[in-house]
Amino acid sequence: MRVSVIGCGHLGAPHAAALAELGHDVIGVELNPETVKKLQSGRSHFYEKGLDELLDRHVPAGRLRFTSSLSEAAEFADLHFVAVGTPLRADGRGYDVGQVVGAVRALAPLLRRPATIVGKSTVTVGTVARLQEIITEHAGSDGVDLVWNPEFLREGHAVEDSLYPDRIVVGLTSSAAEENVREVYAPILARGDAELIVTDPATAEVLKSAANAFLSTKISYINAMAEVCEITGADVATVAHGIGIDPRIGHGGMRPGIGYGGGCLPKDVAAFTHRVGEIGATGAADLLKAVEKVNHARMDAAHDLVERAYGGPLDTATIAVLGASFKAGTSDVRNSPALRLAGLLHSSAARTVIHDPESVAAARHLHPEYSYAEDIRTALDGADIVVLATEWPEFTKDTALPTTAARVVRRRVLVDVRTAVNTSVWTAAGWTVHQLGRPVQHPTA
Ligand SMILES: NC(=O)c1ccc[n+]([C@@H]2O[C@H](COP(=O)([O-])OP(=O)(O)OC[C@H]3O[C@@H](n4cnc5c(N)ncnc54)[C@H](O)[C@@H]3O)[C@@H](O)[C@H]2O)c1
Repeated sequence: MRVSVIGCGHLGAPHAAALAELGHDVIGVELNPETVKKLQSGRSHFYEKGLDELLDRHVPAGRLRFTSSLSEAAEFADLHFVAVGTPLRADGRGYDVGQVVGAVRALAPLLRRPATIVGKSTVTVGTVARLQEIITEHAGSDGVDLVWNPEFLREGHAVEDSLYPDRIVVGLTSSAAEENVREVYAPILARGDAELIVTDPATAEVLKSAANAFLSTKISYINAMAEVCEITGADVATVAHGIGIDPRIGHGGMRPGIGYGGGCLPKDVAAFTHRVGEIGATGAADLLKAVEKVNHARMDAAHDLVERAYGGPLDTATIAVLGASFKAGTSDVRNSPALRLAGLLHSSAARTVIHDPESVAAARHLHPEYSYAEDIRTALDGADIVVLATEWPEFTKDTALPTTAARVVRRRVLVDVRTAVNTSVWTAAGWTVHQLGRPVQHPTA
């Protein structure tokens, strides 16, 4: 099929590349001319595992191209994915859906033949109805259908999740559009491993918000249990493992740490909390407020843990912070817990040096006031203690790291606020390991 993807950010760029990989002819539309230039050169403007490989394969072949011209896309494609941003409003009271409304409002009159607009951005319930009115009023042709197809990809796995989604949710405003959606996802549906959920727009909108809210609830739940374990001397890792054996609970999302972050969960939970409160779903609003409260509190708990590990106020400490992106596998630093913790340490007058395999440039752009190291050795050299803030495999799976790091740090003290390392490898190399909600692990060698 000939498809367009409007908005080529963390969702749109992998989605466009995956559609090309699935055999479609794809045009990506992006407002930012620098981004268009970069993508058109076959390289992504951010790090996402496997994305450059797809761009490299499909851009030179002409199957995938990028432009800033919406009319070129309207002319070319029969199906238009809308993947623009929905940031939180400045007052925190729900999403700013200006990019979505703007994109649909601009596209509609340019459509001169029947087409399907497929919304992928995460929106508040009720947005689709508003967009439908815009299309009815402004479409340049009859037969322009709107469907909502929320996206569930995980950053760091965006390419894999776009090619192998576990579900495809489609909220239809007209049954005619179902055929086009089935056709664009035909190679995925033919495999039979992704469930297609065809529903109404309101259900699709709520389903996406409910998914992110549940994930955040699970994360805050185990982090709240970490708080209980800190007070009682219990071990939250064992608690998480033990309760997760029950299939009704499960192990996914149960790793204690400094809480959720990134470009989605914090804003999605905040927007959903506001919206459910607004519509009078007070039980849901109270639950989600508690989820947010726990998430914020864990950051202070992490700061206190670093202080305890150092053994006093941090104003004389030099701290190597490993990780800046909000999670491993992406250079995305939006709402990154790692950077928030680095900021707290920084404001405690600690000297922090941050290293990340992929996101030093993005972090420096956002926080030029912090110090960064391009390589791990420079970050560790002369540090009093080490804080592991993002679970990159370079930090957690490299079994030689505890020994090499021990040679250049002043004290063998690791604060792992992601509960990500194999503690026995570190303690065997002479390290003391501190994790949230767990007893301190002492050196065994
Ligand atoms: N990032 C994710 O992993 C993810 C996962 C699921 C859902 N989502 C949702 O997808 C949407 C996009 O998120 P994102 O993380 O990709 O945001 P992003 O900010 O990385 O990307 C949005 C892009 O859209 C571009 N844009 C805005 N208006 C445009 C227009 N009129 N024409 C062309 N381009 C335009 C912006 O320049 C930007 O590059 C959000 O609603 C988000 O909640 C994101």
